Amino acid sequence: MTILGIETSCDETAAAVCKDGEVQSSLVSSHIIHKHFGGVVPELASREHERLLNTIVQEAVSKAGIALDTLDGIAVTQGPGLAGTLLTGSCFAKGLAQGLAIPIIGVNHLEAHIYANFLADPTLEYPFVCLLVSGGHTQLWQVKELGEYRLLGDTRDDAAGEAFDKGARILGLGYPGGPEIETCATTGNENAVEFPKAFLHTDSIEFSFSGLKTSLLYKMKSEDRSKTDGLSKSDIAASYQKAIIDALISKCVLAVQETKVKTLVIAGGVAANQQLRETVKMQLPECRILYPDLPFCTDNAAMISFLGEKYLVKGNSTQLDFPVFPNLTLA
Ligand code: KG4
Ligand code: ZN
Repeated sequence: MTILGIETSCDETAAAVCKDGEVQSSLVSSHIIHKHFGGVVPELASREHERLLNTIVQEAVSKAGIALDTLDGIAVTQGPGLAGTLLTGSCFAKGLAQGLAIPIIGVNHLEAHIYANFLADPTLEYPFVCLLVSGGHTQLWQVKELGEYRLLGDTRDDAAGEAFDKGARILGLGYPGGPEIETCATTGNENAVEFPKAFLHTDSIEFSFSGLKTSLLYKMKSEDRSKTDGLSKSDIAASYQKAIIDALISKCVLAVQETKVKTLVIAGGVAANQQLRETVKMQLPECRILYPDLPFCTDNAAMISFLGEKYLVKGNSTQLDFPVFPNLTLA
């Protein structure tokens, strides 16, 4: 099957074509307009999607070397995400599907992030554990098969990506914060500052990053300034990054112990972090560790078309009047 994927859950307008499980083209346009604001402005994001969608879809189809009327179906992100941006993408997709008289399927963005790991290695076998770490989610899942997922642990407050983004803002770095902190941290000493790591020594699989962010804020402001005096921004960024990674990995270890599953995959934008990738491998030497190629860690439409095809092949499709679900979950 040849499936067009469309992704507009946040500030990336993306289109891709997947054919029989293989990516034929994948284009992502990140909205630089939000950089001026240090975060995504929903209304601007919807307008940017509206402006970009037609061109990016045409380019994805042409790069795949096919004609629009040879598509067998369209997969579009149905949620979670920003209501306005989801609507922009889904309305575009609905119009196109109706015009071409082909089926459409609404795809769960979180599930698609997990399935991006099959793009890295199509031989990935169930069951596996997935650390899902994006801008809005930090969860551990046991993936039993397509559509069968067990939540092992979640965050009580901020997501790991959010901790990177908010930390970067406090440090005066740019947006998105993950890559900014990662780059800044490369020359720093990760043991320079002791940051709080919630639940590190407990047996429960849960995360919390809001205390970490507050601790950074205090250390950078007058309250606790003495603790960071004389340290470079790189030292602080490296220590902050280490605190996030240590918290994530300690719970991956617990999840692997609890499930006795020997494959761990990482999904979502934070999976792009090299330090996270390397530390997971060191801490879980007995496990098979997998993560998507860099372009498929952060938001993209290849994962949407790939997962959409999996469902369309099974005969699943969505009624044309489907709503979007900004708070869609996986379970
Ligand atoms: O999956 P994603 O592109 O969008 C959501 O679904 O949320 O994830 C975006 C998040 C942002 O918080 C961003 O700062 C983070 O992923 N991120 C990273 C890196 N690249 C992106 N975090 C740490 N290190 C990175 N290299
Ligand atoms: Zn995402």
